[in-house]
Amino acid sequence: MRQRDLWIMAVFVVAFIGLGLLATPGSSTGYTVEKGKLYFVGVGPAGPQFATLQALDVIRKADVVFAPNFIRQAFNEQLKDKDVRLAWPDSVYKIGDRPYTAAKSKKEGKKVLEEIHKNAEQLGEEFRREMSQGKSVACLVNGDPCLFSDLRWFKKYFKDSEYEVIPGLSSFNVGSALFKLDLTQPMGLNTVILNHPVKRSQVKDLAEHEATMVFFMAGDLETLVDDLEKEYSDDTPVAIVDFIGYPDRQRLTKGTLQTILKDMTSVPDTDLRLVYVGEFMK
Ligand SMILES: C[S@@+](CC[C@H](N)C(=O)[O-])C[C@H]1O[C@@H](n2cnc3c(N)ncnc32)[C@H](O)[C@@H]1O
Repeated sequence: MRQRDLWIMAVFVVAFIGLGLLATPGSSTGYTVEKGKLYFVGVGPAGPQFATLQALDVIRKADVVFAPNFIRQAFNEQLKDKDVRLAWPDSVYKIGDRPYTAAKSKKEGKKVLEEIHKNAEQLGEEFRREMSQGKSVACLVNGDPCLFSDLRWFKKYFKDSEYEVIPGLSSFNVGSALFKLDLTQPMGLNTVILNHPVKRSQVKDLAEHEATMVFFMAGDLETLVDDLEKEYSDDTPVAIVDFIGYPDRQRLTKGTLQTILKDMTSVPDTDLRLVYVGEFMK
């Protein structure tokens, strides 16, 4: 082999190894994290196993990372050498000893919302302070930032050009995979409704479509089942997934509208819960 050929081969080998390293988790995806900019980073429903390479890359490159405690714990390894700040105090996620999603009255619901707005305003100011010092700021968001997320609280404080959104795997994607079934029924309505039930009338109206429904932050189960029973038949399948991606706590309960409250009597309430309703499980 001539020396020129050997050189060409050597260049190919180096390039091949380089590309291999780029695709290895833990290496750069080439995403540019700018100084003075804010990044809402979707990290998936649980730990780093559900985070994208891009999300992990942004976490690695950001100067300051804000995260609520439950995300911080799940990403302990990725955050160990970082400047990490608390994004939301645990009290925001609680009403006394109940999860924040289980508000029992309008008054309780209003109080939760007030608390969220107050904390969002403070957090927005903290993000701004770091950004004005020329730091890149990552705010870690559960699941996908474009679904029922913190993003909505901050939009009014920042111009479009001041922040970017890094997509994440939603809890509903991972939850759906646990059923090993297609949520869209080709012979049925072929529609999935993702909802956070705020008003009772809304659940009733949506249920009229008899589509597959996935409820985030479903709150009080009895109320939800009561509303659904008015539109769906008793034998409509219902499945509840708690703590998706937390191996010791993940729990899947399957039943029907008629049985599900009984099936869930011994399961403690949590805000990390998704409720699936629909024929797709039959
Ligand atoms: C504020 S919303 C955030 C949703 C998130 N942006 C997403 O795409 O999954 C929080 C709700 O998402 C659902 N959720 C998020 N992570 C979950 C998990 N690990 N297990 C079960 N449900 C989860 C629950 O319904 C929870 O009340």
